[in-house]
Amino acid sequence: MLDAQKNGYAVGAFNVENMEMGQAIVAAAEELHAPVILQTTPSTVRYASLDMYRAIVATLAAKAAVPVVIHLDHGDSYDLAVGALEAGYTSVMIDGSHEGFEENIALTKSVVEQAKLKNIPVEAELGKVGGKEDDLDGGSGGYTDPMEAKEFAERTGIASLAVAIGTAHGIYSGTPVLDVDRLKAIEKVVDIPLVLHGASGLLDKDIIECVKAGICKVNFATELRIAYSNGVKQVIRDTPDVFDPKKYGKVGREYVVEAVKARILVCGCDGKA
Ligand code: 13P
Ligand code: ZN
Ligand code: NA
Repeated sequence: MLDAQKNGYAVGAFNVENMEMGQAIVAAAEELHAPVILQTTPSTVRYASLDMYRAIVATLAAKAAVPVVIHLDHGDSYDLAVGALEAGYTSVMIDGSHEGFEENIALTKSVVEQAKLKNIPVEAELGKVGGKEDDLDGGSGGYTDPMEAKEFAERTGIASLAVAIGTAHGIYSGTPVLDVDRLKAIEKVVDIPLVLHGASGLLDKDIIECVKAGICKVNFATELRIAYSNGVKQVIRDTPDVFDPKKYGKVGREYVVEAVKARILVCGCDGKA
């Protein structure tokens, strides 16, 4: 992400739910010679376990021709974040954005302290990204204030900061209006890489504008879940008698490869590995 910051591109971060999606994300990254971040939310971790996803991604990473890392997305407690550190995740997010400013700082600092012992970078969030991520309802409003962001980054010692500038988790019902001027103002006063959440459903040009304005990591979740499900549904619709999970898993995987490739190109991280 520091290389991305220096060279004006963003690393794509893709939420993984199962082995097939993991394989697809890594295959897409290899095809486009892109470094890639795979990440899991708390509900995903509850579906299987930290160890399970860590093992899947480590297996993929060991054979990949590009850098592959695993990140805890929207870590919702100190215990889960520390659990991810212990499980061998290569970075973690602690999301205290639902707390007050001082409480968010205290929670974030406590995770950074533990992560530092293992030299693991921590992402945190200030302001509220809209929509529904996982079981958390982001609500609306609460854009990131640039001067608060500066203070937050300095006092917590985080490695990257997720900002709220009008994006929302999930697919947008209307046309999202992004406050790119606010992003530029944050970038001016905050030294560390900035992260854009809620990128599913954003126009290519909006993502490109945000990357130009200082975004170094872009998160995609819903688009991949939809792509995988569309592939599976197509097979079941066309061949209702199918009973081999490999048959529809394979098509779901192919759909995710295409979705991820398109977004890697938008982030500009192709050819960076
Ligand atoms: P989308 O579901 O809108 O892609 O948001 C992804 C995200 O921010 C994951 O943290
Ligand atoms: Zn998010
Ligand atoms: Na979105």
